[in-house]
Amino acid sequence: MFFPEYRARRLRRNETMRKMVRETHLRIDDLIYPMFSAFGSGVRQEISSMPGIYQQSIEHIVTEAKEVRELGIPAVILFGLPETKDPVGQDAYSDTGIIQRTIEVLKREVPELTVITDVCLCEYTDHGHCGVIRNGDVDNDETLRLLAAEALSHARAGADIIAPSDMMDGRVAAIRELLDANGFSHLPIMSYAVKYASAYYGPFREAADSTPQFGDRRSYQMDPANRREALREAALDVQECADFLMVKPALAYLDILRDLRERFDLPLVAYNVSGEYSMIKAAAQQGWIDHDRVMMETLIGMKRAGADLIITYHAKEAAKLLR
Ligand code: PBG
Ligand code: ZN
Repeated sequence: MFFPEYRARRLRRNETMRKMVRETHLRIDDLIYPMFSAFGSGVRQEISSMPGIYQQSIEHIVTEAKEVRELGIPAVILFGLPETKDPVGQDAYSDTGIIQRTIEVLKREVPELTVITDVCLCEYTDHGHCGVIRNGDVDNDETLRLLAAEALSHARAGADIIAPSDMMDGRVAAIRELLDANGFSHLPIMSYAVKYASAYYGPFREAADSTPQFGDRRSYQMDPANRREALREAALDVQECADFLMVKPALAYLDILRDLRERFDLPLVAYNVSGEYSMIKAAAQQGWIDHDRVMMETLIGMKRAGADLIITYHAKEAAKLLR
């Protein structure tokens, strides 16, 4: 095939032709919408670095969840802002914790919506780390017990999928074991298998009020420079019986998404994180980029890299364009 006989532009001549040869598709069914559930009532506070995203109390969560469902989005992932924090993050695994109460109300009011829960301690600890502290660092094995208890309490409250984001070693197995021992062998685990220590989480930490009060997360989250280690992390979670694998963040890690897609056959999730969202919002507010086009191009890039599902703060906006 050579020019001038072969001409690649023939298949780009009009939208019908382009649609016929399109290789990758973004569907509303691919989207998962994150929500921040805050203690109290009458709370609906926009996150300054994330226009359109709110910390909100349960009644407002329900209203927005209904809207999410009406748009055809299949699932939300919940993060909690508890009334009080302490060194061991008790609200995280309390049966009356903020997330447990949110799950119960959501499953009652919007039963068709799939409820995914983020399992971690950083939103509930006063020091902001993802586990309990011993000798100045997060203690892995002691944290595992608390994470498993948190997952079980989410399951009891009615969660549909459990998503551990803490990056402790062995957490998928610890959670699987406790869930199975308590009659929840049917509940899938969506593992944040490959999670990097990223500055792209900055706006989320404002949203979830989870900035570490000392140090950083580099002793448990991955070094952004590492690719082979991502395969190792994913393989461990597959062995521990994870049902979904996740790569987080997404935009600066599209190569990792592609690597996992080629090596593993589990459903693959990309987390289009807070900083990625904020950058598009900020540039669009300046009039420097076309918001909707950059958003859709970013999301299709994640699909093309190999993601099946995308957790994204853009889910509602994207769904409206896809209808
Ligand atoms: C909690 C958690 C974080 C995110 C999801 N779950 C923050 C972190 O690890 O610091 C980040 C999500 C985002 O930036 O949108 N472990
Ligand atoms: Zn955490």
